[in-house]
Amino acid sequence: MKQRFTITIPGAGSTQCAEDERVLVALERAQGFGQLRNLPCRLPVGCRRGGCGVCRARVIDGQYAKAPMSRAHISAEDEDNGLILACSVYPLSDLSIVLEGRPGAVPGPQSKMEE
Ligand code: FES
Repeated sequence: MKQRFTITIPGAGSTQCAEDERVLVALERAQGFGQLRNLPCRLPVGCRRGGCGVCRARVIDGQYAKAPMSRAHISAEDEDNGLILACSVYPLSDLSIVLEGRPGAVPGPQSKMEE
């Protein structure tokens, strides 16, 4: 039986994510079902393969496994500091994350983090 973990975006909501599910996929599903009502912007979704950087986020608590992520968007230093691409990580425990988007992108209410 697959393990399931809780993914929380503080202040926005939380959802369940299976151990073999990418965090971004769980968040997309949660948003579709209205579980992230307080998210201040539309969930940033792009390539879903670790290449475009729009799903950049910071893990503030929890453990995760990583698939390859573009070094153009997540440097080795970023990775050491808990920055991830949400489409390229799998939970190993409950996670708390903050969405950051690509550097320079300005998120706003009811807008996409990226244009
Ligand atoms: S959606 Fe493109 S890097 Fe995550």
